Amino acid sequence: MKFKKIKGTRDILPEETEKFLAAEKILRKTMAKYGYREIRTPIFEESALFIKGTGATTDIVNKEMYSFVDMGGRNLSLRPEGTPSVVRAYLENNLYKKRLFQKFFYYGSMFRQENPQSGRLREFRQFGIESIGSISAQSDVETILLGLEILKNIGLKNVELHLNSTGCEKCIPSYKKALGDFLKPKLELLCSNCQRRFETNILRILDCKREACRKELKNAPKCIDYLCSECKTHFQKVKNLLEKVDVSFTLNPYLVRGLDYYTKTVYEFISPVLGAQDAVGGGGRYDRMIESFGGPPIPAIGFACGMERILLAMEKEGTVKEADKTLDCYIVTMDEQTDEEGFLLLGKLRKAGIRCEKDFMSRSLKAQMKDANRLGTRFVIIIGEEEMEKKELTWKRMSDGLQKRIPFSVENILQEIRS
Ligand code: HAM
Repeated sequence: MKFKKIKGTRDILPEETEKFLAAEKILRKTMAKYGYREIRTPIFEESALFIKGTGATTDIVNKEMYSFVDMGGRNLSLRPEGTPSVVRAYLENNLYKKRLFQKFFYYGSMFRQENPQSGRLREFRQFGIESIGSISAQSDVETILLGLEILKNIGLKNVELHLNSTGCEKCIPSYKKALGDFLKPKLELLCSNCQRRFETNILRILDCKREACRKELKNAPKCIDYLCSECKTHFQKVKNLLEKVDVSFTLNPYLVRGLDYYTKTVYEFISPVLGAQDAVGGGGRYDRMIESFGGPPIPAIGFACGMERILLAMEKEGTVKEADKTLDCYIVTMDEQTDEEGFLLLGKLRKAGIRCEKDFMSRSLKAQMKDANRLGTRFVIIIGEEEMEKKELTWKRMSDGLQKRIPFSVENILQEIRS
């Protein structure tokens, strides 16, 4: 029987892992610069957390959660996103009592049972941030600046910022009503999903990717035309600040995002080189979630980005940097005795911080040289019988093939590597 990975999951092989690691290093450095500290929450939580947080009418909760009942009869789900978990941890650990304003970042696997396609997986890695405690438009803009800087530092060349405001509980009902009045006569032309959404959460219809539905949505009312004065002022401040910090954006009046919790600002980082799944990240304000979890009325904003999508976009742009996988030395030996000498030298060189490797399969000189080449080593050390007798080793520089004998000592090897 041959085992296969589950549909929508991926094996990230060492070469690709190195690309992830390089990006992760950059994101951690940039997060630290902006004062965001890492939080690690469990990979599974009570399903109710996501039903309440992510939202009962979202596709994520309705169709995509990996849920199971554990031995204790608890209904649990693999996390489909990070925001509800961070909010739960913020409240459960009373973090707001120490300092109301707190900034977190997270990185890890999320799970959604979506139809897999390019850039859409069932297990994918996200990094995200949550800035909790401020209602200021400055915190909206800080999250956007941080997202754009991370994407740029990781190496993505082209990122567009799409922006909208989805209002608040005061103004959104009048918008929903206007959208309902507009869509009611067209209801039969919408897909069955959207017909259901018309009853459950009409805003989700704006997310539908089906061509037929998109056609009917042309000239639909725009949320920004229904904002209350508070939301309007906030959105104006966000736009003004973005202009002042030279961040260009596209106003997308139909951007509502696929999650239920957003209030006021919503945004997406779009990569124009990707196809249907072109959002490398997205986020927005969620001023009501903390209160809805039984906490004080504390506002918050955040975003998350999909690491696989970022790397895919970079591949399409041709901007993926090859990870530095160079080996410093490869030790070639001739027989049992020299092979043990080679093994002891391997340990000493590694202790001195040198990246080195040797053969462990008693292969021929030719096969060992081939292996050294395949691993892209900078230098080869050859230990033969004659070298052993003279307490020397053969030193070969792979870039130009230069070969010489040097004394058999770690110091001499280090000197050669540094010269
Ligand atoms: P989201 O838009 O659902 O937002 O996901 C954020 C990003 O994760 C997407 O833009 C995409 O790059 C990536 N992503 C989502 N689903 C998949 C998938 N199936 N396969 C590959 N990549 C995917 C959130 O998750 C919110 N928690 C963001 C947030 C934080 N809002 C406020 N705070």
